[in-house]
Amino acid sequence: VSVEIIKTPSAMRARSDAWRADGKRIAFVPTMGYLHEGHVSLLEEGRRRGDVLVLSIFVNPTQFGPKEDLSRYPRDLEGDLAKAARAGVEVAYVPDAPAMYPDGYQTYVDVERLREGLCGASRPGHFRGVATVVLKLLNAVQPNVALFGMKDYQQLQVIRRMTRDLDLPTEIVGLPIVREPDGLAMSSRNAYLSADERTRALALSHALAAARSAFTGGERDASRLVATARQLLDDRDGVRLDYLELRDGESLELIEGAVTRPVVLAVAAFVGNTRLIDNILLAP
Ligand code: PAF
Repeated sequence: VSVEIIKTPSAMRARSDAWRADGKRIAFVPTMGYLHEGHVSLLEEGRRRGDVLVLSIFVNPTQFGPKEDLSRYPRDLEGDLAKAARAGVEVAYVPDAPAMYPDGYQTYVDVERLREGLCGASRPGHFRGVATVVLKLLNAVQPNVALFGMKDYQQLQVIRRMTRDLDLPTEIVGLPIVREPDGLAMSSRNAYLSADERTRALALSHALAAARSAFTGGERDASRLVATARQLLDDRDGVRLDYLELRDGESLELIEGAVTRPVVLAVAAFVGNTRLIDNILLAP
């Protein structure tokens, strides 16, 4: 089986128009490539939810800051297409930057409040780039359903909000984080980690797991839950905490005092030069 590659928004749109005229339900998984098991779980669920499955691979320059890893972001188109074929993808939409952002490009989507704080604080402009590219991808693919991982939790909430605010017809589905057997959340950026950093990176999932056990044991105080997790992150050699915060699971507002509704405990930390994120949901 081989996957058809489409490279321009207009060709993608034409393909989707034809499918829709045939009454086909389109499922869509947007990615930046370098696919791992987390992406594969999105593709498999997409396969179940659609008659046809589209994967996009586009390392989106507008969501990277000037000092971030755009140029060295890991890429493996051959490997990705092999995985896509195994997962039953019909079309890989692989536009290049000039196709997405032609000369004179100047239109952006800003989800004003949800993009503040958490990753938005340390990555200014990041969610504006994400929302913009996701809207453009949805416009080209015209999917009935689009699937995103919950590892990028703030991204998922930004996309849900944009979809509602702009009356987009696509159903947005978020799927649980896929982890390595030792707990590390799957991420394309794990490829940057040395063996030693890979071990240190476990501090993130261990910290979240500690908070989860405290929560399961009945702890409901926000600051104590955060402190429990923080103990496993502070003063770790080679781990520099960016943020560790307990926030409302939907609005992402900071939680203080008692946890009385579903919340997300989200962490970002640099392990060496690699910035990793992880989170868990806690529901009373
Ligand atoms: O999560 C990602 O891989 C990217 O942020 C996305 C949603 C494909 C937009 O570039």
